[in-house]
Amino acid sequence: MKVGAILLAAGQGTRMKSTLPKVMHPLLGRPMVHYAVEAAAVVTGEKPVVVVGYGAEVVQQALGERAVFVLQEQQLGTGHAVMQAKPVLMGSTDLVLITYADMPLLTVQTLQQIVDAQRSHSGPITMLTVMADDPRGFGRVLRNAAGQVQAIVEEASATPEQLTIRELNASVYCIQASWLWAALERIPLSPKGEYYLTDLVGIAVEDGLSVQAQVLEDAPQAIGVNTRQHLAEAEALLRQRINTHWMLAGVTLIDPQSTYIEPGVTIGHDTIIWPNTYLRGQTSIGSQCIIGPNTIIHDTQVGDRCKVLASVLEGAVVENAVDIGPFGHLRKGAHLAEGVHMGNFGEVKNSYLGPGVKMGHFSYIGDANIGEDSNIGAGTITCNFDGEKKNPTKIGAGVFIGSDTMLVAPVTLGDGARTGAGAVVTKDIPEYTLAVGAPARPIRKLKKNE
Ligand code: UD1
Ligand code: CA
Repeated sequence: MKVGAILLAAGQGTRMKSTLPKVMHPLLGRPMVHYAVEAAAVVTGEKPVVVVGYGAEVVQQALGERAVFVLQEQQLGTGHAVMQAKPVLMGSTDLVLITYADMPLLTVQTLQQIVDAQRSHSGPITMLTVMADDPRGFGRVLRNAAGQVQAIVEEASATPEQLTIRELNASVYCIQASWLWAALERIPLSPKGEYYLTDLVGIAVEDGLSVQAQVLEDAPQAIGVNTRQHLAEAEALLRQRINTHWMLAGVTLIDPQSTYIEPGVTIGHDTIIWPNTYLRGQTSIGSQCIIGPNTIIHDTQVGDRCKVLASVLEGAVVENAVDIGPFGHLRKGAHLAEGVHMGNFGEVKNSYLGPGVKMGHFSYIGDANIGEDSNIGAGTITCNFDGEKKNPTKIGAGVFIGSDTMLVAPVTLGDGARTGAGAVVTKDIPEYTLAVGAPARPIRKLKKNE
């Protein structure tokens, strides 16, 4: 039986008090909507149909090729939202999996379980429920004396007695397509002026058809995000899930509560992560590294046996056995080869530091290429910007740059070259040559506004 998925993401999310559509609020660095889209795509093997409305362009742009989109121009309720997918899906699938983009913690296994249960079900609907003491505004599941599901009643229209029901609608439904498309037309308008998808349950029961409900054992998966408080709760749970995964994979997290690892990150075994560390984006960390405390690593590849202490690495490549920090900053295009040592207050941008390069203290290296085993003295600066463009610096192998050297780019230093402390290098230095002194002296008057 072929299964298609519909994800509802058209609402503004008024309870978020935000101009950003609710489903675009990030959870561990990705818009919330990504989680539902990814899970649904795994279960069905197809791109899910995402119903967009409020902020449609932003949501569409964020998801790109991962989904098919249909527009719900006016947000007239979850039932009305599903109707918008009819022209795209009708006739092409036997079952339709429907869930909401503000339920980011539902796992592939949970969605799969509902689909599998519906495959062998004679009635038109299988749905997911959850038992909880705090209803958080969820719809209540009504069952008859025999325990059969009769209806879902939304909180706003529930009687005081119904409000005490602890079984809640977790908003995952797998529905027989042929029944669904016709039944949607029969949803009545609610007193709030919306068409509730949840009314389908009562409609099926009225027709004498069976609705089957599966209770979600792992209740935290049903955390739906309606407010910023829920967002923080969802983030904490997701973080816990990811951190547990890495600990089970052989990574030590000294304090998982204060360790932030985004979903796209990978980490090798026997790496130790100290508190207050953020591993973000497409980052990979090798094995036997020591990372943190107080470190942010974003879109960066780090090799094995590296140490990174209290530093910020963005868009960089770090090979094996490199040590950085405290207070190092790698920016886009920094590439540190094996065994590089970068001490405190160093900044490297768009530069290659060859194997064994030492750069101990207070240096800026930008748009440079440094040969192996060169030593960059304290306070060395590549003066790469002339006010208009960036210029390159090339430093050979085994070069010794004296403290406080200014390398005024474009400039090239041959292998084995040496500079004395405080040198201001404005001309190339041939290999195995010592250069000293500062050529800074008035040479001409600047023109106005030059
Ligand atoms: C909904 C369910 C409730 C369930 C809860 C669990 C309904 C009527 N109620 O309530 O039974 O317990 O989810 O999460 O379904 N949306 C649209 N178009 C619309 C309205 C909503 O696309 O016209 C989307 C929203 O963007 C959101 C999702 O549907 O992603 C759910 O809407 P929301 O208003 O959050 O419903 P709840 O009140 O949480
Ligand atoms: Ca919701």
